[in-house]
Amino acid sequence: MRQGKESSMKRENDPEKDNQGKESNDSPRGLTRRGFLTTMGAGAVTIAVSSKLAAQPAAEAEMTERGEMTKVTLRINGRNYRLLVEPRWSLLYVLREGLGLTGTKVGCERGECGTCTVLIDDVPRYACMTLVVEAEGAKITTLEGLMKGEELGPVQQAFAEHDAFQCGYCTPGQIMAVEGLLRKNPKPSPYEIRQGMSGNLCRCGAYKHIVNAAQKAAELKRS
Ligand code: FES
Ligand code: FES
Repeated sequence: MRQGKESSMKRENDPEKDNQGKESNDSPRGLTRRGFLTTMGAGAVTIAVSSKLAAQPAAEAEMTERGEMTKVTLRINGRNYRLLVEPRWSLLYVLREGLGLTGTKVGCERGECGTCTVLIDDVPRYACMTLVVEAEGAKITTLEGLMKGEELGPVQQAFAEHDAFQCGYCTPGQIMAVEGLLRKNPKPSPYEIRQGMSGNLCRCGAYKHIVNAAQKAAELKRS
């Protein structure tokens, strides 16, 4: 599993601060989130991903590791991120370890559980099975993107109201799957909900409440 320490996403308006901190090798692949160098673009974030590059200016770092890295621009939750990544990295890895968007959870990492579900062009996709380079040019929505400022979005609110979770580990993926379903089908039947959610497993067996929450979320979205 590639889980590292969690921290908040780097601020666009504080690139110098982003490059501060001590070197650490506690992350898999020798990476630290601090290793993502952030420099400013107009409304965009440029990030170089390598612990070796962490102490260097972004332009120099890019030249140093050019052979191993590639540039991508991702549109996530309405914000552009210019990134230097290794082509083999998954979208899940970059979201969590690079951008601090830890609402997307790590589960099986092999396309079986749905915990890592995000929306790509409004369609639910497993972020663990999506290469970050595949996601370039697409509209990516994560759990964080469903918030309305400090308020929960309608699907999140419906899950809370209907106790549609126990341990909660699958819940972010379930919420994203419901969000994707409702964007395609605003008024699904219970059967269509079950069908639409079939790619998301819940080890706690909260399925009945999840279906109820999806129906409530459909109502909230229509109101
Ligand atoms: S973590 Fe992606 S499907 Fe399980
Ligand atoms: S609430 Fe525990 S796995 Fe779904």
